[in-house]
Amino acid sequence: MVDLKDFSRDEVDYILKVSENFEPIANGKKRSKMLQGYVLCNMFFEPSTRTRLSFSSAMMRLGGSVTGFASGSVSSASKGESLSDTVRVVENYCDVMVLRSSLEGAARLAADISSKPVINAGDGTRQHPTQTLLDLYTISKEIGTIDGLKVALVGDLKYGRTVHSLSYALTMFDVELSFVSPPELSMPEEVVSDLKAEGLRVETTDDLSHVIESSDVVYMTRIQKERFPDPMEYERMKGAYSIDSTMLEGAKENMIVMHPLPRIDEISTTVDSSPHARYFQQAFYGLVVRMALLSLVLGKWRD
Ligand code: NCD
Repeated sequence: MVDLKDFSRDEVDYILKVSENFEPIANGKKRSKMLQGYVLCNMFFEPSTRTRLSFSSAMMRLGGSVTGFASGSVSSASKGESLSDTVRVVENYCDVMVLRSSLEGAARLAADISSKPVINAGDGTRQHPTQTLLDLYTISKEIGTIDGLKVALVGDLKYGRTVHSLSYALTMFDVELSFVSPPELSMPEEVVSDLKAEGLRVETTDDLSHVIESSDVVYMTRIQKERFPDPMEYERMKGAYSIDSTMLEGAKENMIVMHPLPRIDEISTTVDSSPHARYFQQAFYGLVVRMALLSLVLGKWRD
């Protein structure tokens, strides 16, 4: 699974439906041996806490085993080995690979080479499909629907892969999107025109307080420091948008605040105890959805 654009609405709905069955296993109320004897290899060339650990935990909670590396610096990539050679070797050691890379298209390349399934855990600024599925699962579980909602994406829309990935996926649903970012970090033109071509209603604004009042989902993101070619530019942009609990006073009762995490200063800790906060719940759902994906990819899920 490299790119959600390869999936239909029915397939996405099916993954979300299957995911529900894994909640009791994810929270430890039920035990499972569904993936016993299977091995997952994590290949993370970029930092990760949630994605890597939730994939590991998902595999282990289903009775499977995990190997891999958490940084390119401890793999032979640091000696100059190419990604394709690494994939050709690692596929011998596992049943499924989870790959994160700063290179756009890395997961596609790996999937084309590998005889084992490859799951894209983020490729540069482009796609982060498993994050998107857990984002969709969060919206659907916490609000009860995705269709008919107004969703605001806030922060670094230029470099953030989660917002690129999520926007494309939302073209499968009947939603209105608002983009809120400093002009320097706006959603790439190419993405906006793709979304419009798919018929998605999209508005761009810098009025965060209006967006908070009118939206059902406010999806905050971190300014992607590591992707700025010029560190001075990051210094100018950091802290561009942040919310605190007083800013949420005019929000709709059922509005939810999401964030793929890690947060830096985009969401004040005063929001954590607000009834709108869902970002930690969202991180839990990451485990649930990744369990479902592993069981499906390895052909072990039975309806
Ligand atoms: C995101 C990522 O890696 O793109 N993190 C994640 O997987 N939850 C978001 C980010 O790093 O800002």
